[in-house]
Amino acid sequence: MLTKEEIDFVQSDWAKVVPIAETAATLFYDRLFELDPKLRSLFKSDLSEQKIKLMKMIGYAVNSLDNLSEIVPAVQALGKRHATYGVVSEHYETVGVALLSTLKKGLGPAFDEAHEAAWGKVYGILADTMRNAAEPARAVATS
Ligand code: HEM
Repeated sequence: MLTKEEIDFVQSDWAKVVPIAETAATLFYDRLFELDPKLRSLFKSDLSEQKIKLMKMIGYAVNSLDNLSEIVPAVQALGKRHATYGVVSEHYETVGVALLSTLKKGLGPAFDEAHEAAWGKVYGILADTMRNAAEPARAVATS
């Protein structure tokens, strides 16, 4: 699904983000709430804890890109939990935009079109896995 080059781009970019994880997470949430201020109310817990959880989860996925099938059950479970947080399909688009713009801002010119495309693909796989896992939960909730 992902080429070796795409995996290399994403993993080498992430290695640069890790030392500035807190700043990157702050940039991400600032951008997210700027894009859609209504999303702020979905986050009930302490945002600084949430930042660590988000970075850990992205790191876990990035480190598993060579063997994505291994993390599918965990990502599906994450998607089901997200439905209970009030997250709906369209929100994944907004989060994707916020993530890519954060990487662009944090990594500068090194984050070129090829890197952006690789991250778009990785995020798309994660988001689709989460959304699809959330579908039955939503069907039950509305029936
Ligand atoms: C690849 C996409 C995403 C990843 C990796 C991710 C990761 C996480 C993680 C690890 C948690 C901690 C709680 C848990 O494990 O269940 C969490 C919670 C949460 N996420 Fe996400 N998430 C993603 C997409 C989204 C989207 C699209 C939204 C929509 C706004 C969202 C909103 C939330 C909310 C509201 C919480 C609960 C926060 C709270 O308890 O206050 N996430 N996310």
